Amino acid sequence: MGGQEPAGESVPFDTSVPHIARVYDYWLGGKDNFAADRAAAEQVIATMPDVLVSVRAQRAFLGRVVHYLVAEAGIRQFLDIGTGLPAASNTHEVAQRAAPESRVVYVDNDPIVLLHAQALLAGSPHGATAYLEADLRDTGKILEQAAGVLDFGQPVAVMLLGVLHCIPDQDDPAAIVARLMAAVPPGSYLAIAHPASDVATEQMARSMGDYNKQAAAPVTARSHAEVCRFFAGLDLLEPGVVQLHRWRPGTADVGQGRELANYGGVGRKP
Ligand SMILES: C[S@@+](CC[C@H](N)C(=O)[O-])C[C@H]1O[C@@H](n2cnc3c(N)ncnc32)[C@H](O)[C@@H]1O
Repeated sequence: MGGQEPAGESVPFDTSVPHIARVYDYWLGGKDNFAADRAAAEQVIATMPDVLVSVRAQRAFLGRVVHYLVAEAGIRQFLDIGTGLPAASNTHEVAQRAAPESRVVYVDNDPIVLLHAQALLAGSPHGATAYLEADLRDTGKILEQAAGVLDFGQPVAVMLLGVLHCIPDQDDPAAIVARLMAAVPPGSYLAIAHPASDVATEQMARSMGDYNKQAAAPVTARSHAEVCRFFAGLDLLEPGVVQLHRWRPGTADVGQGRELANYGGVGRKP
């Protein structure tokens, strides 16, 4: 896991408060994190050691979902909001491996992700990979700018993996999802990964409470029913909203035999 400060003389953001992109990077074993991120990440690990399995299971879920969408559902366009720092097998890599012409727009509101956007932008010359700095709440800006790369007349997969929990209830995350899905045509997909409030309930409540005392932006775990509601109006693919390591797992998938507090699901717009 990261142990040194990232290179660079100065950085255009506050490194004294934990940020989710850098905390997640630390859990995944990355190096783009700072002391405050590592302290918050370690505090969560102390309460909830399975978080380390959960984040790797989330990346494996991302890989299975993107591969399914490209190879089996024929999707060639992705709007990936809450991109995170580059890790192994990012959306454009999985998609363009199966179909080099795939077009991917990444969106994140953390300036450190922007600093690493070059790594995300090195996509296939046959497809397109673009990066927007925007907040998930600002769906108007996202849709307008993404339209420069994506054709909203053709199906799009909207990827919200590990980001809706950064939107508190008072900001109406369901309405945000609905606005995004209203902008894409029938045959489009929605993929969600979301921390669970009703698996390992006590550990989750304690670790998220501790995290929220320090973090720049609070996070909200949600129940199975609450995560299902984000798919309103869509046809949920089998096996529905499940602990994400149980969503169409391969034989060697991360998390087998665990109770991971992380839901995943995929829906299709009819
Ligand atoms: C936990 S990471 C998930 C990364 C990746 N999607 C994955 O599943 O591996 C969450 C990302 O969402 C970004 N994020 C958090 N709140 C956001 C918001 N309101 N708008 C856009 N991005 C946001 C964070 O900066 C971070 O990069």
